[in-house]
Amino acid sequence: MRKPIIAGNWKMHKTRDEALQFIYNINQNVPSSEFVESVVCAPAPILRDLVKRQGDSLRIGAQNMHYLDTGAYTGEVSAPLLENIGVEYVVIGHSERRAYYNETDTDVNKKVHQAFNYNLVPIVCCGESLELRESGQTDQFVKGQVEAALKGLSKEQVSSLVLAYEPIWAIGTGRTATSEMANDTIKGIRSVVKGLFGEVVSEAVRIQYGGSVKPANIDELLSMSDIDGALVGGASLDSESFLALVNAAVKK
Ligand code: 13P
Repeated sequence: MRKPIIAGNWKMHKTRDEALQFIYNINQNVPSSEFVESVVCAPAPILRDLVKRQGDSLRIGAQNMHYLDTGAYTGEVSAPLLENIGVEYVVIGHSERRAYYNETDTDVNKKVHQAFNYNLVPIVCCGESLELRESGQTDQFVKGQVEAALKGLSKEQVSSLVLAYEPIWAIGTGRTATSEMANDTIKGIRSVVKGLFGEVVSEAVRIQYGGSVKPANIDELLSMSDIDGALVGGASLDSESFLALVNAAVKK
């Protein structure tokens, strides 16, 4: 049995005051981590504040990091710093990072390795554009992203990371992939993992869906055989909505 994982990706939203208010609102009500992993991935400058105030069942993640330990990289954040301040997860290779900051599959792979060097759980993103979806190239494209991201990892590492399938055309558009469509692509990702690392690993690895997930559609998405949780943007910003999402996962 794979434990569901719901991760909020706040992107470039919330001030420190707003983030702390959110944490106070949810802390008493986040379901036990025995049933669901609940994660908030926040902007880097407020991560430490959130780690200090996280309740027993909430975990904090970063949205990006560099693949080197230190260096002259103005504006970047390192994995050793994230580990040092108590962050436990990191989103890697989000489509917005790939599109606006030119992150390549090679960068993504280096970052995944670096996350493991510092005990961070990587949430590794993949997903196709509308053009690729409409021309029938989704499975092939996503396969290439997943193979590149996981290159050189051990079976143990792959079993413990999280993959997030986020079709770009469904992000922030209100246009969700149907649960069947999401499940089919995620099944395809699981079979890519099986081909590379074997069945035990492919049955263990958790694969989230992301793209306009909301309290109104989470039940249906989580009812699918291969969808193990969600990576949520807009609907993770409101505390009531975030709680509805994590509570939905308890029933999975
Ligand atoms: P939305 O939930 O706002 O569509 O964003 C999805 C996403 O990109 C999460 O990483």
